[in-house]
Amino acid sequence: MSFVNMSVGDAILQVRDLHKIFPVEGGRRLVAVDGVDLDVAAGETLALVGESGSGKSTVARCIVRLIEPSGGEVTIDGTAIVPLPTKRLAGIYRRIQMVFQDPNASLNPRMNVRQVLDEPLRLHLALSGAERAGRVRELVEMVGLTPAHLERYPHELSGGQRQRVGIARAIAVSPDIVILDEPTSSLDVSVRGQILGLLLDLQQRLGLAYLFISHDLQVVQHVADRVAVMYLGSIVETGPVADVFRDPRHPYTRALLSAAPVAQWGVKRTRVRLAGEIASAIDPPDACRLVGRCPMAQPSCSAGKPSLIDLGQAHAVACPVVVDRPT
Ligand SMILES: Nc1ncnc2c1ncn2[C@@H]1O[C@H](COP(=O)(O)OP(=O)(O)OP(=O)(O)O)[C@@H](O)[C@H]1O
Ligand SMILES: [Mg+2]
Repeated sequence: MSFVNMSVGDAILQVRDLHKIFPVEGGRRLVAVDGVDLDVAAGETLALVGESGSGKSTVARCIVRLIEPSGGEVTIDGTAIVPLPTKRLAGIYRRIQMVFQDPNASLNPRMNVRQVLDEPLRLHLALSGAERAGRVRELVEMVGLTPAHLERYPHELSGGQRQRVGIARAIAVSPDIVILDEPTSSLDVSVRGQILGLLLDLQQRLGLAYLFISHDLQVVQHVADRVAVMYLGSIVETGPVADVFRDPRHPYTRALLSAAPVAQWGVKRTRVRLAGEIASAIDPPDACRLVGRCPMAQPSCSAGKPSLIDLGQAHAVACPVVVDRPT
């Protein structure tokens, strides 16, 4: 296990040694998530970044059990949800909710907004019909829609309005933490800022914690307290956003930041370019996953997958080469 104490205070969400393996043709194994540890404290935003295929959505889907993890532990405020508890845990799944990238795909086209928002209330809360109706009206207003939208179906809404419904559905049952999987990337550029603003406003008002999955490092810098960088199923670097962006240590993080069109990070870093494309996650060798692409690779990098090494100040990096050779 590679867990490093990241000093986030009382974690609402704790993920330990999470694994997800998809069987693929020829009896081979696609290792989509390979020993991930995460902590999210009450009220904070942890961003999960990394290129396409690195396993971010699979982590999210395992946490909320949309798919079954292959191994590991997940707790919400100290109560285990992975492995599956033997007795029914009333109310535990209410505490963690998810907003999906594509509100089109995640809203049932045959349900109007009222029905979409009423469903989690019926499922998780013991409210009367009148109480639920009141809560539904409150929710549409919280996300910047009006009671007139309640009778509309998803196809009668704009992309931004649909995502507002997805957000209202997620907060309907007053969760402690919401997983946001690329919540603005399917939207028109002109409405992305509004939806991000809404998410930040709701976080403040409701004291929500977010696990925020994003490709957009500028957005991450704007919204997140801490960041975890994923490459091929593993977290290679984690720490406060300001520290990681100012002084990225892992060659993969450096490459990711070098490629981002943001100058004001003022990093004195040398630009890092990786050779080739993201490697295959099928039957990976027991070695650093960046071997073959990394300009700093040493023979020792092929002798086992490195664990996260604590650099202090809650910053950790899974690369002994850069730790031994400070920049
Ligand atoms: N149901 C599945 N069956 C087989 N392989 C899968 C399945 N879901 C995901 N994968 C594989 O797992 C790996 C991680 O995928 P995942 O969608 O989690 O990446 P991601 O980081 O969210 O990428 P993106 O940024 O494109 O959303 C990929 O190699 C993907 O092809
Ligand atoms: Mg994804």
